[in-house]
Amino acid sequence: MTDSRDEPLVLGIETSCDETGVGIVRGTTLLADAIASSVDEHARFGGVVPEVASRAHLEAMVPTIDRALKEAGVSARDLDGIAVTAGPGLAGALLVGVSAAKAYAYALGKPLYGVNHLASHICVDQLEHGALPEPTMALLVSGGHSSLLLSSDITSDVRPMGATIDDAAGEAFDKIARVLNLGFPGGPVIDRYAREGDPAAIAFPRGLTGPRDPAYDFSFSGLKTAVARWIEAKRAAGEEVPVRDVSASFQEAVVDVLTRKAVRACKDEGVDHLMIGGGVAANSRLRALAQERCEAAGIRLRVPRPKLCTDNGAMVAALGAEMVARNRPASSWDLSADSSLPVTDPHVPGHDHSHDHVHEVSKENLYS
Ligand code: KG4
Ligand code: ZN
Repeated sequence: MTDSRDEPLVLGIETSCDETGVGIVRGTTLLADAIASSVDEHARFGGVVPEVASRAHLEAMVPTIDRALKEAGVSARDLDGIAVTAGPGLAGALLVGVSAAKAYAYALGKPLYGVNHLASHICVDQLEHGALPEPTMALLVSGGHSSLLLSSDITSDVRPMGATIDDAAGEAFDKIARVLNLGFPGGPVIDRYAREGDPAAIAFPRGLTGPRDPAYDFSFSGLKTAVARWIEAKRAAGEEVPVRDVSASFQEAVVDVLTRKAVRACKDEGVDHLMIGGGVAANSRLRALAQERCEAAGIRLRVPRPKLCTDNGAMVAALGAEMVARNRPASSWDLSADSSLPVTDPHVPGHDHSHDHVHEVSKENLYS
């Protein structure tokens, strides 16, 4: 494709958790990234409340789509497809996005692409650094997931290498922030305090790093308990809790394990590109340590800017555009939300309707 106008123009909808994201991309170029977040509505509960998230998506959906179209300066009629997160995520929240995507796609006569949230987190990097090398190792770390994935073709071949066996990395940040009374979400606050603390002040445990432990799986629940006990002991002794040192030492334990295992997976598989995505990829120490360790191992590191790392619609549009560019079949109209959609399904074609032409849907068909 020489003329960028030939590249697919795709709108993507993301509602798997608490952000209503609508992005528009042309090929690998970002045109709009509109977000409405319900994070403030969850803050007083210390975590995302699914029913609150679903209702917020419903209210934000149409205005956010309008905002994205305006920001991109395109008309909905010009779209080549509509992509939507089909899973994994919160069932009710996903359902709002999938229903909206179907309604827009059907009404506009555009193909629908149900895509995988984790594969989208990887694909978004194309908007920052251009086409993803194949293969690419991906470390995805957020409040809901922590996994190592090997992507050989982001539209069809994503292999899980390892995942957390208990808490997600972001969840550990959020829980420790709660113990320290720092509010929700905890990652950004701990990141800030940690910059003024000593990462070697307290030796917190590194989960699943023993010689017999699975090489690519993670565990953060032991670390979380160790940090909470340490803080409780200080409080019980009437001593002040050194928030900066605790933050730095806890954060170091998390990012040490994440980067060590990611680099090891690259070396073992002979992969020389590592991408890091998900909300925790915004962490400044994770970025710095990953850079240091990748350089030492001859691995090229790709980390999108923080706004593209957290949940957003642009990542869904990016993967949708890749589906169109590679002629992947569109999803069928009976596409459903799947809260535990496996990453081995980067997209959900449904039944083979690849010969259907949605453009031919006529009023007669609609009302018969
Ligand atoms: O990807 P995301 O927006 O939503 C999920 O899919 O979970 O990630 C949110 C998570 C939260 O747990 C938040 O505490 C964490 O990412 N996070 C961070 C940072 N910024 C956000 N964790 C560590 N350091 C940060 N700077
Ligand atoms: Zn996510």
